[in-house]
Amino acid sequence: MTKPEQYRLLERQVAALLEGETDPIAKMANLAAVLHETFGFWWTGFYRVVPVAPVAPVASAAPAAPVVPVARSASVGEPVEPPSPCELVLGPFQGPVACMHIPYGKGVCGTAWKRNETVVVPDVEQFPGHIACSSASRSEIVVPVHRPDGTVTAVLDIDSDRLATFDDVDKEWLERIVAIL
Ligand code: SME
Repeated sequence: MTKPEQYRLLERQVAALLEGETDPIAKMANLAAVLHETFGFWWTGFYRVVPVAPVAPVASAAPAAPVVPVARSASVGEPVEPPSPCELVLGPFQGPVACMHIPYGKGVCGTAWKRNETVVVPDVEQFPGHIACSSASRSEIVVPVHRPDGTVTAVLDIDSDRLATFDDVDKEWLERIVAIL
């Protein structure tokens, strides 16, 4: 089966699997599992956009302002500053243990979030600032997950232990598949 055929089948499978489910973590967990199992990737998982945990306030300090998410529309490829200090926090995944926090704009994941577009990295050693959670990872793709208003809520990160695993076919299909979430 060709890669597009595999993705076509997978898209239908994922739509059926997630139909009726509203919990985002449950959906991400099963999507990571099905992708990982189908293609045998090295690491497949999600990082979620989460407000940075506030530092414990000093007794005399004024209470911190509440975090108020600002709804706004954004197009893919249009960078959007998070409304309040946010970071990427490890979500559901399959594969070896991984780093748990990634700042905005850092690594491949933080870059895809900041640019608001899919980033394909054929050789992770050539990507300045790549965060190496595992020395076995050789190539990577990171796909932003959007809310209907266009803001990024998470990224799908897939690592391969071979060079140049991902191309425009993966980009196109993975963008279609994360839109089901
Ligand atoms: N390589 C990623 C970090 C996450 S791990 O690959 C699971 C990055 O540079 O953002």
